[in-house]
Amino acid sequence: MVDHELPSEIARRRTFAIISHPDAGKTTLTEKMLLYGGAIHLAGAVKSRKAQRHATADWMELEKQRGISVTSSVLQFEYAGYAINLLDTPGHQDFSEDTYRTLMAVDSVVMLIDAANGVEEQTRKLFEVCSRRGLPIFTFINKMDRYGRPPLDLLAEIEEVLGIRSTPINWPIGMGSDFKGVYDRVHRRCELYQHIGHGEKRVPMISIEPEDDALREVLGKEAHDTLVEEISLLDVAGDPLDLDRVNKGDLTPVFFGSALNNFGVQSFFDHYLGMAPPPLGRKIEDGVWVEPTDSEFSAFVFKIQANLNPAHRDRIAFIRIVSGNFERGMNAYHVRSQRQIRLSQPQQFLAQERSLIEEAYPGDIVGLFDAGVFQIGDTLTEGSTMRFVGIPHFSPERFVTVRLKDAMKRKQLVKGLAQLSQEGAIQLFRPAGWGATDTIVGAVGALQFDVMHYRLKHEYGVDAHLEPAPYQVARWVQGDVDPKLLESRDSVSVFDRFGRLAVLFTSEWALRWAERNYPDLRFEDTASIIGEEAEWIAAMR
Ligand code: G4P
Repeated sequence: MVDHELPSEIARRRTFAIISHPDAGKTTLTEKMLLYGGAIHLAGAVKSRKAQRHATADWMELEKQRGISVTSSVLQFEYAGYAINLLDTPGHQDFSEDTYRTLMAVDSVVMLIDAANGVEEQTRKLFEVCSRRGLPIFTFINKMDRYGRPPLDLLAEIEEVLGIRSTPINWPIGMGSDFKGVYDRVHRRCELYQHIGHGEKRVPMISIEPEDDALREVLGKEAHDTLVEEISLLDVAGDPLDLDRVNKGDLTPVFFGSALNNFGVQSFFDHYLGMAPPPLGRKIEDGVWVEPTDSEFSAFVFKIQANLNPAHRDRIAFIRIVSGNFERGMNAYHVRSQRQIRLSQPQQFLAQERSLIEEAYPGDIVGLFDAGVFQIGDTLTEGSTMRFVGIPHFSPERFVTVRLKDAMKRKQLVKGLAQLSQEGAIQLFRPAGWGATDTIVGAVGALQFDVMHYRLKHEYGVDAHLEPAPYQVARWVQGDVDPKLLESRDSVSVFDRFGRLAVLFTSEWALRWAERNYPDLRFEDTASIIGEEAEWIAAMR
């Protein structure tokens, strides 16, 4: 492949994730996209992921979940000439730091909302991460075939709870069993649907102008009047579609529909893919941007997935390509270790199948077999020593202390914890005033502790006892302060894996108290992942 194809390959790529609360319909919408794109031929193929819904922590379940997560971490497929990379943001019990960090590897997101439930907790958390990055956010309000909340109420809630302005691109015609279709405000036409089977690919559709008498007949006078009134209201009262504002994350285009019934789904995909940005560049240390069209290959690691099966101790490091061409078997420069490495066996994923890839372009996600070389945040180049910045640690929400049942196993424990933290599954903190070997482990989702316990036992032969620690938030401290001063009954000062000062608080309230008492300090809820580990980690080994 010659380089002049790079710009056109970049232009047709879309790398995104769907953010939503469990049950809003993410699996259903994903499946419809695969179906319409021709990547699968029958609805139901992605449904096996549902098995993880009630995952418990026993071996079988963890294994099943591991298998499912690996294969669905990223779906790559073609849709109407676009090359799609759809990244999974795991929810439920496997909500973790990875879920947040995945958002560092995308260029836009689809925010999926259940029309009856509005903006829910997990959506709000994920939205905040996207919003901070200034990512373009496109909203799909799902399940309009059920009686949900009035559309205008939902728009008001998005604006109030999330603080983002909205601009409806289509408007629902009716709701619940009267949900007949959508009015497309860009093309100024109504799309009416008929109910057909869940598995069928396309829904017969009538496209008709809103003033058409035939439409009045189909809808009935009352519904038709309401529609005409609502359309004219939106035209005068709503925010106009302004792609500059969308690209900055100030305005979200909103679509209504029903993923299950294929109502408004295809028109959503078509509008969305047309409006969403192609792969964007990424920042390196000195504030310079690497552009996707730069000819030197560069990429960063945003996720490492370990195999829980003791028979296959391999890990997969997921990289996002930022610039240049990727080719199978190429050598790349691993900036942190200052070594050339061969990128063999690159994997691409579609549903349950993995396949080897020959080449890839900016925006693509590639899975590399990893024998323990990679760490989250690592940069790969063709020789430059630049490093991408901005892959952070997020504040854990749960904490435990680890006690050994057999003190002779210390070395293995330390090795295991160091490895797991390198993969980004857990975070290690060393309390400033505690014994030299005490560590507190933090994670965003509780399931991480089950995974940690399981892996310590099966991979490192360590039977560890995990004791819940009473903390709920971590904040990295910026500013000059004696760590002891930040300690109280409700907080402990700690050093993170890279030796930076942080404080763990038992509640948001305790955090607010510290913020009020130390107005000169900054308490940050993320910290960038940097190369060199702190001495205390090395000393533990
Ligand atoms: P998730 O991945 O976001 O957790 O949601 P998922 O797609 O699994 O959907 C959750 C439930 O909502 C499923 O029902 C699904 O069929 C339903 N659903 C999705 N989209 C729509 C829609 O547009 N309208 C309606 N009415 N329901 C929708 P379930 O009963 O939990 O599972 P299933 O038995 O249907 O598979």
